[in-house]
Amino acid sequence: MQDLIKEMESYANENNVPIIQKESIVYIMKYIKEHNIKSILEIGSAIGYSAILMASVNEDIKLTTIERDETRYMECLKNIKKSGLDKKINVVYQDALEVNLTGVSYDLIFIDAAKGQNNNFFEKYKNFLNKDGIIITDNINFHGLVGNSETIESKNLKELVGKIESYIEFLKENDEFDTEFLDIGDGLSVSRRKESN
Ligand SMILES: C[S@@+](CC[C@H](N)C(=O)[O-])C[C@H]1O[C@@H](n2cnc3c(N)ncnc32)[C@H](O)[C@@H]1O
Repeated sequence: MQDLIKEMESYANENNVPIIQKESIVYIMKYIKEHNIKSILEIGSAIGYSAILMASVNEDIKLTTIERDETRYMECLKNIKKSGLDKKINVVYQDALEVNLTGVSYDLIFIDAAKGQNNNFFEKYKNFLNKDGIIITDNINFHGLVGNSETIESKNLKELVGKIESYIEFLKENDEFDTEFLDIGDGLSVSRRKESN
């Protein structure tokens, strides 16, 4: 498994595939272990790096991960097969905003896809969260640019960072969820349903 993980890190590096930072996945894996998480939904598989690591924490974890890019989806399937976790991980090849889930719910939902769509992913998938479940979102600091969007010259980048800033405001003002913002890796938000909901 360690060799496969190293191989995936090199592939991601050589092919400019964004994967989660070490520190962040270590935090999430520890959370999965300590809270005995059994069902996970991931939005944004890329090549399966975080999916494989999350699913490897406990024997009885089931994980569904969604990816819309064909090359990454194929690479993800290949890596999951190699990891031997193919019975535990289900990969869906579709845009996450178009997936129709029915009769399922999750202990952990990990949002790590198009950063400008975080609000939409959150609003759609919160309905599939178990009562004591959490939603974790990656890249909340977006390489240190969040909070500094005024100084960004590129129009597209400025817009993207602006959307992440709006997502943070959306989480802070959310009536249904309490959110902690962690300065781990590229920044994680951890959202839990308020007691009253
Ligand atoms: C940051 S990468 C995921 C990294 C992966 N979670 C990891 O740490 O190993 C984001 C991925 O989300 C995919 N993506 C972006 N928007 C998506 C959407 N609407 N539906 C499904 N996949 C999406 C991209 O193609 C990309 O591969």
